[in-house]
Amino acid sequence: ALLEQDVMIKGDKRMMERILAPSILSADFKVLGEQMELCEKSGAKYLHFDVMDGMFVKNLSFGVPVLASIQGHTGLVMDVHLMIEEPIRYAEAFANAGADILTVHYEACENLQETVDKIHACGMKAGITIKPDTPVDVLMPYLDQAEMFLIMSVEPGKGGQKFIPESLEKIRTLRALLEERGLHTDIEVDGGIGLDNVKTVLDAGANVIVAGSAVFKGDLSENVSEFVRIFEEDE
Ligand code: DX5
Ligand code: ZN
Repeated sequence: ALLEQDVMIKGDKRMMERILAPSILSADFKVLGEQMELCEKSGAKYLHFDVMDGMFVKNLSFGVPVLASIQGHTGLVMDVHLMIEEPIRYAEAFANAGADILTVHYEACENLQETVDKIHACGMKAGITIKPDTPVDVLMPYLDQAEMFLIMSVEPGKGGQKFIPESLEKIRTLRALLEERGLHTDIEVDGGIGLDNVKTVLDAGANVIVAGSAVFKGDLSENVSEFVRIFEEDE
């Protein structure tokens, strides 16, 4: 049974679409439109939109107006990562501004169930994310409710940090919990991922890869195409 299950898990992992989600936190905002286009042309599928409120994390980034200005001008899926207190308050505003996936922090919600329900009621896919120090088992009650789970592999709040290796065990644990229930839910990983370590993150069971500095520093198109080439390597 174990062998069979192993094959199943391996098989399922291979079956899940591998998606690159460039994080625009590291983009050049004076040419954001051009950079978005280049990301899409080179094979990225999502645009990862890091909203920071200066409360849940100490930095402040950008919000609804920037998303609204992009809406309708790209084929990329708007993958919004809310690093804000009590995100339920902004579900509707982000839905109207074009968010396709709204991911909230377990640690920032007064009532996570209500928040997930509200995201769904606004017609978006719900993502739930946990910080490096938060154990995977807090996600148990939501395994069959969210369309995506995001494992933070850095402390949320800024780009360009180092990947936290303990994240790999959390990804494996979550993938196993989902597979046991026959759930092929996306697992997104975010923070410190580059061309050098993305393979280990995929092998641990993630299929949506966020990359900020590894995409926007240097040659954007080349970086994106290289990630996509690695994604296709052992499919
Ligand atoms: C950090 C953000 C990440 C970050 C990723 O709080 O959630 O999305 O922008 O940037 P890199 O890939 O440079 O670590
Ligand atoms: Zn993020």
